Amino acid sequence: MSILVLGGAGYIGSHTVCALCEAGYDVAVVDNLVTGHRASLRPQARFYEGDIGDAAFLRQVFLKEKVEAVIHFAAFSQVGESVKKPLAYYENNLVKTRTMLEEMVKAGIKHIVFSSTAAVYGEPKEVPITEDAPTQPENPYGETKLAMERMFHWTAQAEGITYVSLRYFNACGAHAEGKIGEDHDPETHLIPLVLEAASGKREKISIFGTDYPTKDGTCIRDYIHVSDLAQAHILAVKYLLGGGKSEVFNLGNGTGFSVREIVEAAREVTGRPILAQEAERRAGDPAVLIASSQKAKEILGWEPKYTKIQEMIQTAWVWHQHHPHGFDGR
Ligand code: UFG
Repeated sequence: MSILVLGGAGYIGSHTVCALCEAGYDVAVVDNLVTGHRASLRPQARFYEGDIGDAAFLRQVFLKEKVEAVIHFAAFSQVGESVKKPLAYYENNLVKTRTMLEEMVKAGIKHIVFSSTAAVYGEPKEVPITEDAPTQPENPYGETKLAMERMFHWTAQAEGITYVSLRYFNACGAHAEGKIGEDHDPETHLIPLVLEAASGKREKISIFGTDYPTKDGTCIRDYIHVSDLAQAHILAVKYLLGGGKSEVFNLGNGTGFSVREIVEAAREVTGRPILAQEAERRAGDPAVLIASSQKAKEILGWEPKYTKIQEMIQTAWVWHQHHPHGFDGR
């Protein structure tokens, strides 16, 4: 029996594939390589290149593999892009997932773990954010992820399947060995951009907004290491295979760091001066996002290993130094 990872060549997907292989699971990967990287694939994991919106392709995969559970990462994930191209997000994230879910049900697969996001909450009324906080996404990305969650909810009830939805906060860092890491094109996330400024790949970074109601005026986020996220997926699979009921979990460290604190921590880790220029607010950024991950700790037994921001940045720095132009040497 295998675990099928959809979107297993992307950032969080590839780290989860790696963790599954390291834990001795039999793993198969589906990815269309639109945003994923062939070079991130593990030789131990069987690879099927194709699109989750292609029913005939998926049927073939489900025929070849005896799939015990699916882990689903295959989605677009950029907030800014989703505002500009909402229909692309509805098509890629929701419509294709509907096709995949239908084929999964037809193939008799009963369990799925999938990527959701803190973006489903929008601007929170209270922090730390618990799973029962109101969901009011403020962009099409968060909206499509929430719609996916609702689709899984109703389909699970109707078809007798179980799911776990994992709402990630700010994923960061790279595998401890530095072979895989974060490589988005274009890159929009704070930590990789700060490290590009440290290595000289870019001249400076912009601090988006310095008048937020926070201690230093910049936005506060809850950074969680990608390998800790990977472990949460394995625990979620075990939980479902052990008969656990469908659930939604937040995944974060429960600690917030401001943009200025991230820049400072990166200066410490890299020993390089990093030029940071104050800039206007970026549209749609909530001031503070901090997770309560109590539920994941209690029910899944999840405990993040990386709690120090310097250690998380250090792993990203090792990756960046070895792959300054990402997987494909851009
Ligand atoms: N930031 C800067 N300068 C930059 C890039 C980012 O100041 O060059 C700031 C942002 O304004 C934000 C913080 O750094 O305050 C973190 O920004 P990221 O783009 O790294 O991450 P986000 O918090 O915007 O997004 C993350 C995930 C999304 C998810 C979202 C939940 O990447 O997938 O959290 O709100 F939807």
